[in-house]
Amino acid sequence: MEVAHRIVEVRTTLAGFGGHAVGLVPTMGNLHEGHLELVRTCRRQCDVSVVSIFVNPTQFGPGEDYANYPRTLDDDLARLDEAQVDVVFNPDVQEMYPAGQDDHVAVTVPGLGDTLCGASRPGHFDAVATVVAKLFNIVQPKHAFFGEKDWQQLAVIRAMARQLDMPIDVVGVPTVRAESGLALSSRNNYLSDAERDRAALLNATLVDIKRAISTGSQRYSELESQAATLLTDGGFDVDYVAVRDAHRLCEPHSASTDLRILAAARLGRARLIDNVGVDR
Ligand code: PAF
Repeated sequence: MEVAHRIVEVRTTLAGFGGHAVGLVPTMGNLHEGHLELVRTCRRQCDVSVVSIFVNPTQFGPGEDYANYPRTLDDDLARLDEAQVDVVFNPDVQEMYPAGQDDHVAVTVPGLGDTLCGASRPGHFDAVATVVAKLFNIVQPKHAFFGEKDWQQLAVIRAMARQLDMPIDVVGVPTVRAESGLALSSRNNYLSDAERDRAALLNATLVDIKRAISTGSQRYSELESQAATLLTDGGFDVDYVAVRDAHRLCEPHSASTDLRILAAARLGRARLIDNVGVDR
């Protein structure tokens, strides 16, 4: 496994693989089973697998956890080596933003990037789209793999790739969950044992809404507010629970057959997100 810290190095290494189909798994490190599932999917579909590890400062808002975000590079590299990844790209901030972070060209994905998590984390999805566009330009993958746990991020990146005519297949990979239903996330590290047990309520609540919709309910706002009350009673500080069109993330309209139920809520120090799909 090659580990490259510089853009020039990763490009030279990839040039050595000739015309083979390159797959990219962008990550911020602190790898868990969810990331490894992305890697396995990438290896199955591509000739060459590249994983990037970069904690992107611009996508963290003021007061968010950039400084404390778990950084576990040695463990991450050992796991990726074991998973038989070909190339790891691990740049530092200076390599990615040599002219500084403030006056950098930015990619904006209006609409999709402004709702739900984008409403409470202004600028977050522009920063994600920008860093992913840079990674796409650096690695030039044929396929790129993202977890469905970050459903809105996946929608934003798909829209960016489509609208900027990037010839990249953006692949969503189903969420990996603990036995309790809790979606795996690096931010679960912030939960105490008691909070981790309670955190399972987030997914259980979304599954309840899914059941109600599957059996015919279209009273979405009622389902959303009942769920928010249940979560608040369970100790969560709820940002939103929302039933949305799965692709546009707008409120469901008559043609929306593919829905997504999404939620974000804080539990202790962790901001947790989750989503489940439902057809109607
Ligand atoms: O999902 C993540 O880990 C990050 O948002 C990403 C896609 C690697 C961009 O920094």
